[in-house]
Amino acid sequence: MTSRARTQRDLTPGIENFSARVLSWHDRRGRKDLPWQRQPNLYRVWVSEIMLQQTQVTTVIPYFQRFMQRFPDLATLAKAPLDEVLHHWSGLGYYARGRNLHQAARLIHDHHGGRFPEDFQQLRALPGIGRSTAGAILALALGKRHTILDGNVKRVLARHQLIEGWPGHSRTESRLWQLAQTLTPMHRVSQYTQAMMDLGALVCTRRRPRCAECPVHQDCQAKQADRQHELPTPKPRQRLPVRKTWMLMVCNPRQEVLLERRPPSGLWGGLLSFPEVDDPSTVAQWIESRFGLHPNQIEPWPEIIHSFNHFRLHITPLKILLNTPANRVMEGNHQLWYNISSIQAGMAAPVKKLIQQLLHPQE
Ligand code: ADE
Repeated sequence: MTSRARTQRDLTPGIENFSARVLSWHDRRGRKDLPWQRQPNLYRVWVSEIMLQQTQVTTVIPYFQRFMQRFPDLATLAKAPLDEVLHHWSGLGYYARGRNLHQAARLIHDHHGGRFPEDFQQLRALPGIGRSTAGAILALALGKRHTILDGNVKRVLARHQLIEGWPGHSRTESRLWQLAQTLTPMHRVSQYTQAMMDLGALVCTRRRPRCAECPVHQDCQAKQADRQHELPTPKPRQRLPVRKTWMLMVCNPRQEVLLERRPPSGLWGGLLSFPEVDDPSTVAQWIESRFGLHPNQIEPWPEIIHSFNHFRLHITPLKILLNTPANRVMEGNHQLWYNISSIQAGMAAPVKKLIQQLLHPQE
């Protein structure tokens, strides 16, 4: 028994033939005719891997083909103006990838005599090439024994070995790298690498994985525990700070409500919203100073929680009934009466919802 086989067996019983099962699945089901798999070389595989970083295979194919027609080799890419490279990228998104590709081509041209580096560290030093991409390029183009750990592979491994923890955490990530390295076979590395990517993309999908079609489902620990959908563990949600506000839904007997336009920049910039106070004990005074009136009734409604990127807004709506039309609107024109049933303007989501509830109170 080789020392590698011992290591694999130590991980979990039966895992020693993991790569054999994956390879056999690849022979039967794997993708073997993608454009970058035809006449594979370092340049073509590199371009495809960069395009595939955040984009699905079916989207990438026509872009890859047009790119190869215009920039068939590294020298052509290095000589091309950046604008033309970005033009060929337009629609793929994440344009930093196109800029990095072009910059890397120039670096290879200037510092490696135009020959694509075959050394892992030299590859990693190029812009846009991380650990997994460098491994994929060397494994797919040259069959060298390098390991990949892209999103698809993380999902397959996290499920198979029931590795909990968000893969973005360094502890989880290094466990996954270790496992991925242990499982990478000595032979047929190129096919194994493609197979792992395909397994993640086609079978061990994020939602509704096709476990019956999976070559390693027999010893998949997530499947055994029926926890496929929980893994990989999602990124932990940050506990957001809470801010509180009271929204004043001031209504008059003419079915009108008082709204103000928010300043053009900042939260809900330029949208219509209710006036707000940050201390409910000041409401009666607020009404008096604006309208010279005592509010007829102040009715608190249930709290609404609205999440922004960096905080959660706890909104307590206060319905305030005035018993006269109270035409006096203060502070220039930034607060105006609007007929509840016919407001046609952009409103913040919770405001829109509250207006609907004012209009149809029992829903
Ligand atoms: N995603 C990243 N690289 C890929 C490849 N070579 N084939 C399919 N999907 C991929």
